[in-house]
Amino acid sequence: MRRIAIFASGNGTNAENLIKHFFYNESVMVAAVFCNNPDAKVLEKARTYAIPTVVFNREDLYETNRVLRDLRELEINFIALAGFMWLVPDYLVQEYRDKIINVHPALLPKYGGKGMYGKKVHEAVIQNKEKESGITIHYVNENYDEGAIIYQHKCEVAADETPESLAEKVHRLEYEHYPEVIEELLSGV
Ligand code: GAR
Repeated sequence: MRRIAIFASGNGTNAENLIKHFFYNESVMVAAVFCNNPDAKVLEKARTYAIPTVVFNREDLYETNRVLRDLRELEINFIALAGFMWLVPDYLVQEYRDKIINVHPALLPKYGGKGMYGKKVHEAVIQNKEKESGITIHYVNENYDEGAIIYQHKCEVAADETPESLAEKVHRLEYEHYPEVIEELLSGV
């Protein structure tokens, strides 16, 4: 059994989509949701499906090995970031080399890097009058949004697009493609 941990910071609609997608899968399961915000909606969502949750703070993640200890204890062998807003520390990247992936709500290498998340990404895309945006699924390395790209899918940015409408389009692409990309990666392991 491949055991995935989802790392998320906020609403967790992607997390919920992944939980649902793998719920009856016989070889892959979402074994835990790790979250840096005790008030995040993703925690309620995880609990609805009886998925174990781990809440941690900055100190836990960057100055102790608590998160790593919990990942090992839960026998996690793959990590999917889904709206996780903090930098993954080096020791986790090393322990899970090529086993941590992220979904980014734009076409990297454009509109990535520190501070580029969620709505801010869509605002920048519209501000720059881009004709297209989309999603990028990539491996996580030591820098924000710089790991090797696994998959991209484009969508049109309409002339009257708003950050909200673009976020909706991009979310739809994420729901459709993130689970299947994970499934494909894990079937090859
Ligand atoms: C998603 O669109 C995801 O791509 C983005 O945050 C949103 C989370 O939504 N991630 C980033 O911007 C990471 N740089 P959700 O909490 O509803 O899944």
